[in-house]
Amino acid sequence: MRTTLIVGNWKMNGSLPGVIELVESIVAGEVKNARFAICPPAVYLMKVGGMLDGSEIALGAQNVCDRESGAYTGEIAASMLKECGCRYAIVGHSERRALYHESDELVARRFAMALNSGITPILCIGETLEERENGDTEEVVSRQLDAVIDSQGIAAIAHSVIAYEPVWAIGTGKVATPEEAQVVHKNLREKLAALDTRVAEQVQILYGGSMNASNAGELLSQPDIDGGLIGGASLKAADFIAIGQSV
Ligand code: 13P
Repeated sequence: MRTTLIVGNWKMNGSLPGVIELVESIVAGEVKNARFAICPPAVYLMKVGGMLDGSEIALGAQNVCDRESGAYTGEIAASMLKECGCRYAIVGHSERRALYHESDELVARRFAMALNSGITPILCIGETLEERENGDTEEVVSRQLDAVIDSQGIAAIAHSVIAYEPVWAIGTGKVATPEEAQVVHKNLREKLAALDTRVAEQVQILYGGSMNASNAGELLSQPDIDGGLIGGASLKAADFIAIGQSV
């Protein structure tokens, strides 16, 4: 039985006082039915990690460097994220892929670095609107997933979380219908099952893209949708918690 996981990706939003208020409200909220994790901007990880001590809510990073240490200006090592208390690290978010040109291969290396440091990677995959309209959704998400499977092996997937985030649904208010999302999630699970049925059964596949308190219930009731990766709606404690309670 896969537990539902609701992850807040705050992206580059907030300020120190705002972050403190948001974490206080999330921690004070009645978190039931689902597991929660929050991924604040890196400079707030230590602060937020301290505030989450003793709570069930996990801490996550928005990215992780593909190298262990050294002259990589601006990057953050997995070991440093671990010191901050991170349990998760997002890798391959579409904003990183599109705006910072992160390739499938780089994403796979970031994935490996997280995993080898005891951090669960949350691997984001998803197609653009053009790719969907061309009927290429399955091919695109398969290619993005294969880059990790080919280099890390199928067993690595058992220790990760996959997030299907159609690019056209991110920050647009245009959510995939529960049926549209379920088709992709089911195909992904079948693809994994062809390699290892146990891994396919076990791995949590989250949906991300304009998920909010009003549409979460239907999305999360789909058999292959095991949680959500939430952007905008994770910036308000009440909305974020309501998503978990709609399970
Ligand atoms: P929105 O929920 O704001 O559409 O963002 C989704 C996302 O990109 C989460 O990683």
